[in-house]
Amino acid sequence: MKHLLSINDLTHEEINSLLDKADDLKEKRKRGKITRELEHKTLTMLFEKSSTRTRISFEVAMRELGGGSIYLNLADTQLGRGESIADTAKVISRYAHAVAARVNDHHTLIELAEHSTIPVINALSDIEHPCQLLSDLMTIREYKGHLKGLTLSWIGDGNNVCNSAILACSLEGIHINIATPRGYEPDRNIVMQARELGGSITLTDNPEDAAAGADVLYTDVWVSMGDEAETMKRLNDFKKYQINSKLLQHAKNNVTVLHCLPAHRGEEITGDVADGQHSAILDQAENRLHTQKALLLSLIR
Ligand code: CP
Ligand code: NVA
Repeated sequence: MKHLLSINDLTHEEINSLLDKADDLKEKRKRGKITRELEHKTLTMLFEKSSTRTRISFEVAMRELGGGSIYLNLADTQLGRGESIADTAKVISRYAHAVAARVNDHHTLIELAEHSTIPVINALSDIEHPCQLLSDLMTIREYKGHLKGLTLSWIGDGNNVCNSAILACSLEGIHINIATPRGYEPDRNIVMQARELGGSITLTDNPEDAAAGADVLYTDVWVSMGDEAETMKRLNDFKKYQINSKLLQHAKNNVTVLHCLPAHRGEEITGDVADGQHSAILDQAENRLHTQKALLLSLIR
């Protein structure tokens, strides 16, 4: 039994086989061919934070695979009234076949996993967003034909998505440049782990330097869920860290622009770039469905 708390819980080979499976599921879905391999299986979804893509793509994935899902806002469960994570995990394990949890504190996921006898999937924590990166890798492969040897440049906040991007790039042989303002660097332990994986990582506070020669430019919101109290300070600190047409000139001519969404046009990305010819953001969002189907098929017994 395996959990997906970090993208680093998967090996290079496992990631590639999930991406191959996702490609196959996507192609078959286009032809109206679906597999109902998860009939009678249930995914429980425990969410402490809002979601559009993650919730919908997991629910549609389970439905199309012949199974079902139960969505619970944590406040609606007895967890909100003090029941322990351990008891909750043990009880859910008696009913469902996997849990996807979106949590404020990554430790909640670790505790859930410790006490679950079913797979626990990180549907976003303060530290990582591994499901997002599976979809991003699939999208990059679709646009570039391969992963190894590419350069991905992350512009903006060294947040949960950035942390998973660092590990995912390191596992796949993608060089990653990260430009953040001072004080917003990615998690140090993640950078150390990624370097141990052989990752090629450059950290800078200069967005133009980071964007130089990029095959992929990636950004995310300046104010993540949970950071709302710092909104005014962040809007000011991140002003220079925007993906716009001027920054694109530093990247390769055929650069692909990614954003995990939700986007704030005019903040971390301009509307002309988010909706322009280099943007892959809607394919990225769609691929959440195909990669999570592949993941569910691999985890659920
Ligand atoms: N990218 C992503 O995880 O979006 P949601 O917050 O809408 O799920
Ligand atoms: N970094 C963002 C990602 C949303 C999908 C957040 O945590 O809010």
